[in-house]
Amino acid sequence: MAGINGVETVVYGVEDLDECVRYFVDFGLPLVAKSRDEALFELEEGSSVIIRPLEAARVEGQKLVGYGVQQVIWGVANQKHFDRVVEKLRQSTEVSIDADGTARFLDGDGIACGLRLYPKQLVWGAPDPVNSYSNINRINTHRKWRLKANPKTIQHVVFQVPDPEASWAWYRDNLDFRLSDIQQGFGVFARAPGTNDHHNIYWLKADLPFPGLDGKTRFNHVNYGVEDIDEVMVGANYMERRGWQKSVWGLGRHRIASSVFMYLPCPAGGDAEYGTDSDVLDDSWIPRTWNSRFGTMSFMHNLQPWIFDEAPWEMGYVEGSTPGKNVRPHPAQPPEVAEVSEGDSQGALPNPTHKEGHHAGEEPPAAE
Ligand SMILES: [Fe+2]
Repeated sequence: MAGINGVETVVYGVEDLDECVRYFVDFGLPLVAKSRDEALFELEEGSSVIIRPLEAARVEGQKLVGYGVQQVIWGVANQKHFDRVVEKLRQSTEVSIDADGTARFLDGDGIACGLRLYPKQLVWGAPDPVNSYSNINRINTHRKWRLKANPKTIQHVVFQVPDPEASWAWYRDNLDFRLSDIQQGFGVFARAPGTNDHHNIYWLKADLPFPGLDGKTRFNHVNYGVEDIDEVMVGANYMERRGWQKSVWGLGRHRIASSVFMYLPCPAGGDAEYGTDSDVLDDSWIPRTWNSRFGTMSFMHNLQPWIFDEAPWEMGYVEGSTPGKNVRPHPAQPPEVAEVSEGDSQGALPNPTHKEGHHAGEEPPAAE
């Protein structure tokens, strides 16, 4: 697959380095190196998490405020893709190349980004089979016992921005990202072209009336991938026993992306999320647009006041991504079929096997 293949590194800017290292070790990230002013964690897929004091993590000219991730380094599989992405970026943005070959730039929101070669490793998993009514996949076999979570991937990053649609347009035009879903009034989900994750980045509208949102461009959270829902909960219990703050929402499943979530408040800024069982997408995906509350969740342990009442079940497809009105006829059809299709609220493509003038939603013509 061409283009960016995921998040290669996130660089956090923090207040208390030692506390944050303790947190991420308990969270389950493998610590590789630590000095007075930097800690490095490496995940099994080959991605890195770097923790530095805020001033050392910040990049000159970037517009993020607050603690949390200050730089996102995106990966590409090989030099050909690297050169292609850099060439495209240079048409609209200033790009500098570090001594180690990392390309540096600011995205449309002024968030510091990088691009470097990323030999992403395949991560193996063997989630326990699930038993259900008359569907036995595990017999005389118990589920895995775990002590703590062991996240192996970085699935996505989330930032609070003033205009998520504009943020998305910048990544579409400059980094060839793909639109996954739009949560109306809340934000936009997008996928790097060289991945099959539902999303690698989400832009949350910064002026929503929720805690921690103040209209400014800020880090929100990183999602760290674990194997299954059991690992999510074992991880959360372990963190609680170690004295870290509990999740406000608790365990839940988003409706958008179908992913299991557990957001834990993080001393490095924002939340650290355990995530699993997300939808997987490729370029056949048709992006959807969602009622924001309906898309937020199928369930969550601690229902929040703003979502206490059931949301209307509203979801459609993003305009322009599916056939709409005034479709052209199939080449084998006479032009008048297209005229009939005008104003057809179903937006159905005329089917050459249908009789003339017959459309979805109408009674089929009587058999002759
Ligand atoms: Fe997330």
